[in-house]
Amino acid sequence: MTEAVLLVGGQGTRLRPLTVNTPKPMLPVAGVPFTVHQITRARDAGISRIVLATSYRAEVFAEFIEGADLGIEIVIATEVEPLGTGGAIRHALTHLESGADDPVVIFNGDVLSGLDIRGLVDSHVQSASDVSLYLTPVPDPRAYGLVPIDADGRVEAFLEKPQTPEEIVTDLINAGCYVFKRSVIEAIPDGRVVSVERETFPGLLASGAHVRGVVDEGYWLDLGTPLAFVQGSKDLVTGKAPSPAVGAIGEVLVLDGAAVDPSAQLRGGSAIGRGAVIAADAVVDGSVVFDGAEIGAGAQVVDSIVGAGARIGADCELHGVVVGDGAVIGSRNELRDGARVWPGVQLDDVSIRYSSDS
Ligand code: GTP
Repeated sequence: MTEAVLLVGGQGTRLRPLTVNTPKPMLPVAGVPFTVHQITRARDAGISRIVLATSYRAEVFAEFIEGADLGIEIVIATEVEPLGTGGAIRHALTHLESGADDPVVIFNGDVLSGLDIRGLVDSHVQSASDVSLYLTPVPDPRAYGLVPIDADGRVEAFLEKPQTPEEIVTDLINAGCYVFKRSVIEAIPDGRVVSVERETFPGLLASGAHVRGVVDEGYWLDLGTPLAFVQGSKDLVTGKAPSPAVGAIGEVLVLDGAAVDPSAQLRGGSAIGRGAVIAADAVVDGSVVFDGAEIGAGAQVVDSIVGAGARIGADCELHGVVVGDGAVIGSRNELRDGARVWPGVQLDDVSIRYSSDS
């Protein structure tokens, strides 16, 4: 039996306002809560028991798991106060059933990847490592902590985000999945906030532990920001990102009960939620429309996320924006590039729209 801990207790601040009501891993992506993609991939890799390490809005997970049958045993460990990534792993320990040297897989709750999870676990066991980390190369490593490895795959350092070109010593970053020997989890301090990236990993290196990096160059995306969230959804809908939880791969995904006018155009991997309404001549391109949202006649919604029950008025133009649950955008509004509308906010109709070159 292989067990896993899925870290899902973060506040998801970068995805606000979508995460005001719903924790990031429970946001719907390609028809199911994001966490279902991770749980079903773990299941298919032979993981038979998973501990959901929750904190922020833990009740949303409990309610979902109670009614879900994902073919894997799921238990919930809830921190009263968030304990950080390392503290959450330590807190989950009492819910694990495996033996002292057994491998325990840890997943960050916001990563979509094509990692060979079984291969990572098997190589961890064969190499008798204390920790095996999934690393991925990124084209621009400046925004990430770096993890250089030697020729044998041993991790040499955990470096903070590079400030100068000289500090970019590798393009490898921690890709948000690791295998711990269970006894290593026992050594994490109990009952206080611990960052696995800033405290546990550097501490293990300093004590001479065997920390191995495993490079996988396949699909990887951290869904932490609105842009990345939209990208991840598109990639799941179109099959670029692998997930057993996506029913039918296609150009777009329209869930049951959505009403799409025949003259509306849906494209670019868009996902239309249950009960959503897309009116005549509307264009939805590369976007995510949550359950029960309405897109008015002639509106254009591009690379955007429209929250549950939100209403976008006729002839609106949305490019790269996030509209919170239940917000109402009056007709002819134009919102662009990173704009975020909070849940329940109402924007009046715009009576005249001036063209940008007037
Ligand atoms: P941002 O606030 O937008 O940075 O997102 P986040 O809260 O998800 O934080 P981050 O991306 O740094 O967290 C990485 C993973 O660890 C995510 O899956 C989080 O849900 C999870 N996580 C972060 N902090 C905690 C915590 O205190 N407890 C638990 N159980 N999980 C956590």
